[in-house]
Amino acid sequence: MDKHAQGRRHFIRQLTAATLTLTGAPVFAEVSMPATPQQPNEAYWEQIKRQFSVAPGKIMMNAANLCPSPAFVLEKVLEHSRQLNRDVSFQYRNLFNDERSKAIQALADYTGAAPEEIGITRNTSESNFLVVNGLELKSGDEVILWDQNHPSNDVTWQKRAARFGFTVKRLATPANPGTVEELASVFIKAITPRTRLITFSHISNTTGVALPAQLICQQARAKGVMTLVDGAQSLGSMTINLPELGCDFFTASTHKWLMGPMENGLLYVRKERVASLHTSIIGGTWKSTGVTVDDKLCTLGQRNDPTLVGLPAVAEFHQMIGKPNVEARVRQLTQYLKEQLQQQIPNVVLTTPMSPAMSAGIVVLSVPGKDMKDVYTRLYTSFGIAASGTGGIRLSPHVYNTLADIDKVVGAIVRLCA
Ligand SMILES: Cc1ncc(COP(=O)(O)O)c(C=O)c1O
Repeated sequence: MDKHAQGRRHFIRQLTAATLTLTGAPVFAEVSMPATPQQPNEAYWEQIKRQFSVAPGKIMMNAANLCPSPAFVLEKVLEHSRQLNRDVSFQYRNLFNDERSKAIQALADYTGAAPEEIGITRNTSESNFLVVNGLELKSGDEVILWDQNHPSNDVTWQKRAARFGFTVKRLATPANPGTVEELASVFIKAITPRTRLITFSHISNTTGVALPAQLICQQARAKGVMTLVDGAQSLGSMTINLPELGCDFFTASTHKWLMGPMENGLLYVRKERVASLHTSIIGGTWKSTGVTVDDKLCTLGQRNDPTLVGLPAVAEFHQMIGKPNVEARVRQLTQYLKEQLQQQIPNVVLTTPMSPAMSAGIVVLSVPGKDMKDVYTRLYTSFGIAASGTGGIRLSPHVYNTLADIDKVVGAIVRLCA
């Protein structure tokens, strides 16, 4: 079990509005978080749910798109925003240099990477762009990608390939894969002497299929092929250790499963690959001497700096629950959701595999003969359930949901599809 989650009382630094340091930076006092039991039960998750300020009567089931932040994370960001608006001087803003280093360290600790391998961008799309545009690829080279990739890791490659003359191979995986080896072999078998890179979503945002990322990365590396894993749907929903995953590049957004802050992204580049990536965006603070991922690739001009303070805070939130507990809870919720859908709607079509080895936090479903667009709309207007219309209905619960929420969601779909 995670060292922070050993059944003792946890403390997080919470805002006390009155106290400011001499520099004007807000100070936070300690308040309690529920202790994580050895076996987290429903009463514990009810307490976790209360750490969020989701509107009464609403059920957020769209973590794959956007997550709320724990209230104390949001408050920290807002208070730093308020203070910045009281004093936008260079002197005051110096404190954000320190906050950026702390945020990079927190993301490094959270992912097992070295701080020099981590950069902070605005989102996954931008991180993908920085890899696509930073790699030197020429006529004769080939990139392999999954046909379920997000456009920022698909159309981007196609546009660049058309301009620079390399080839993009888009591969489909079987609709009903039997094993994870079968999924991996689709990509590995397609490697030719021209293949430079394989890139795929760790978890598809359109079907919920999870690819065996570690297996693909290991086998690709053994053949001298680089890998870019788009982790938009895995960072924060699965326990990720980047060196163990074995990819060369990894991208994610912090406003999805990490639960905040909004509009930050992660770019990981394995140490050995940093030199091979060209800089695409040069902000005012960029220096030709920059050798870390953040210094070399992520000087993106003026940013909304107060969001930086949310990153160590939210990483701490995951650590306090225990990262394996977060993944186990997400899996428990989605597994229960899939089982209930199958039991209560006999003709439901689950696009997402039942197997936990090939899925994680996303469930995509449809009901033959029903207008799924209408169901998606009415889930929100009649029941306050925030879903997505991707692939029919896409539901993605997180630690702020309970089994009772899942029962309400299934009950609502039953009523709408009766
Ligand atoms: C797999 C994947 N990649 C990239 C993105 C883009 O994320 P963002 O809009 O935060 O850049 C998404 C968004 O849903 C996604 O699911």
